[in-house]
Amino acid sequence: MLLLAWLITSVDATCNPEGFDPKNANLDMARWRVHANPPVDTARTNRAFGAYKFSASDGRETFPVAFGMVEGWPWPHRCDPAKYRRLHATVKFRNTDVAVASYPKTGTTWVEQIVLLLLHGADAKLDPASRNTYNARRNPLGCVWLEPMVASARRARMSLNQFADLPAPRVLKSHAPFDAFLGTRGSTDNASLANLRQTGLKVIYVARNPKDAAVSMYFQRAPLPGKRNNIKRRMPMDAWCALYTKGYVSCGAFVDHVARWHAVSKAVESPVLFVTYEELKQNPAKGVRKIADHLGLERSDEDINAVVKLSSFDAMAAQARKAPRPGDARNAKYATLTNGAVDAKSASSHLRQGGAGTWVQHFSPLLSKQFDAAYQSTMAVAAARLGGPPPAFDFGHGCVM
Ligand code: A3P
Repeated sequence: MLLLAWLITSVDATCNPEGFDPKNANLDMARWRVHANPPVDTARTNRAFGAYKFSASDGRETFPVAFGMVEGWPWPHRCDPAKYRRLHATVKFRNTDVAVASYPKTGTTWVEQIVLLLLHGADAKLDPASRNTYNARRNPLGCVWLEPMVASARRARMSLNQFADLPAPRVLKSHAPFDAFLGTRGSTDNASLANLRQTGLKVIYVARNPKDAAVSMYFQRAPLPGKRNNIKRRMPMDAWCALYTKGYVSCGAFVDHVARWHAVSKAVESPVLFVTYEELKQNPAKGVRKIADHLGLERSDEDINAVVKLSSFDAMAAQARKAPRPGDARNAKYATLTNGAVDAKSASSHLRQGGAGTWVQHFSPLLSKQFDAAYQSTMAVAAARLGGPPPAFDFGHGCVM
């Protein structure tokens, strides 16, 4: 009891807003051992989806996840590595293209909505579908996520010729780490940046407090109990964090992803704008203006305010309720099962809670400290690789990581 009280009161005051749920007090990442089969090496690996099995085990229970490794990163969708390589080698961009890049669950859908509204006029009638994905019939203005749309192992929903025929401005989405980003391929980050400059593509990269991103991905991706996954209960958050901080989740390690894209955004006249979820949350009008400026779009204060209104969490959740999409039912069921506080009617895990600092409801103070320590040490390694001091990101609530 005394230990519990100590743990609760020793919550890291700098990174811990209110809302801690005492039922999570015992979460401890150290009790989980993580395994990768086959062991992940640093060389670029190309294996089909499901070829890598990752798991967290405490000796009594084992929680598995599986991914394909394409270009050395765990692919979020079933991907055919050969198709992916072909896509990488042949895709052509235009200088009117805009890409929203991110590590998953950091506010991609939100920034897509902002970009689409900025480009096409903040007109409610435009109504970019709640999850903004391109669809020839339903949402021809939507974002194109080239990697799964073209390189899917099961079926491609778009050919490269169809992509080439889309009218400007095309909006793309990608979760690729910088060195695997389409159109960049170079032997160094500088060479990749030079390639990116040549394409004329403008990129908005959005980052988020990694703990909020980890929780958000947990509610979308951590496997459900049942025969298929051979687990009796949902994976506990500490097991998830053990995998997450190792990069054994969709799109690999958060830190490498963010640090590298951040470094590229710091180059002189970089085509990449780095924004955080938290800055958008704190001052949406300022964030939307920053994005408009990066895209070279002159917009009045009235236009900006209209974009802010139509990209608010409530406005987007209302859209999602009107237009549920395939997969939403599964996600809603999952989020409800796992107490993810999603509005079952809105049925979209892409619009689950929309808060900053809400990770605190799901972490114990100990888990929070362990997560911070893992973050800091992997950030130090990533920064050393990039040849600079570790960047510090202000994730709001006095949380600088
Ligand atoms: P939560 O799961 O914490 O609610 P992505 O689009 O990259 O998958 O990110 C999804 C996360 O962004 C979800 O976080 C979602 O609720 C949040 N989000 C989406 N639209 C938002 C908006 N307009 N305002 C704030 N958060 C938003």
